Amino acid sequence: MAHRQFFVGGNWKSNGTQASVRELIEQVLNPTQIDFARVQVVVAPVSIHLQFARSLLKPEISVSAQNCSLTGPGAFTGEVAAEQIIDLGLSWTILGHSERRTLYGETDDVVSKKVNRALAHGLSVIACFGENLQEREANVTLDVVARQLAALKEGITDWSKVVLAYEPVWAIGTGRNATPEQAQEVHAMIRNWLGTNVSAEVAAHTRVIYGGSVTDQNAAQLIAQPDVDGFLVGGASLKPAFKVILEATNAHHLAQFP
Ligand code: PGA
Repeated sequence: MAHRQFFVGGNWKSNGTQASVRELIEQVLNPTQIDFARVQVVVAPVSIHLQFARSLLKPEISVSAQNCSLTGPGAFTGEVAAEQIIDLGLSWTILGHSERRTLYGETDDVVSKKVNRALAHGLSVIACFGENLQEREANVTLDVVARQLAALKEGITDWSKVVLAYEPVWAIGTGRNATPEQAQEVHAMIRNWLGTNVSAEVAAHTRVIYGGSVTDQNAAQLIAQPDVDGFLVGGASLKPAFKVILEATNAHHLAQFP
């Protein structure tokens, strides 16, 4: 079995003030004692807090943007370019989050092009995708995920710099997480898809993380699934629960790979 480093991202979305970011970092994140060789930890504050968060966080924890522009620097009001994220000394961005897709109209093609551009400029990418409730109820989850993966693949030039975040839209911010079995079913399909459509090596090494109402209550069961390599956490990443999620992820890695 491949020995994948687990990965936990905290997606802070459009939340927080300088005071709350400081409190979260000083009281929850920095005191968390885990083995960062087992669990890579990356948090994504709003863009105007990126530098502030970086200055307060311990070096083992990385900072990610939540999005980046399809364009380079220039006359694109409100956009942040990959070059500018790199210029801050940061190396991660989230792309394709369902809120970007549904609220801001980002299509599979736009997400794929953004991934391509981010990688070309040296960023690593947390690439998000997942089915909505209607699609799950129509039993087309695996088709939707395969379509989203195929679009992402078009943009991916270096799989070692990509973490795949499976985030069923119906589970995001709803308090209704996928069950461990539901998550495992899709994660296994994703790994199979990678094996068939990319390579056995990429299938073995790519981290496939789950997002959607991950909490301190369900993290241990979800991480126990063989194809779940970590989480992208929204609401709970703003709370002390995040420490519990990180510790549960670390504990499972330690149990699996003593
Ligand atoms: P949630 O968000 O944990 O609040 O459901 C997850 C996400 O949107 O990445």
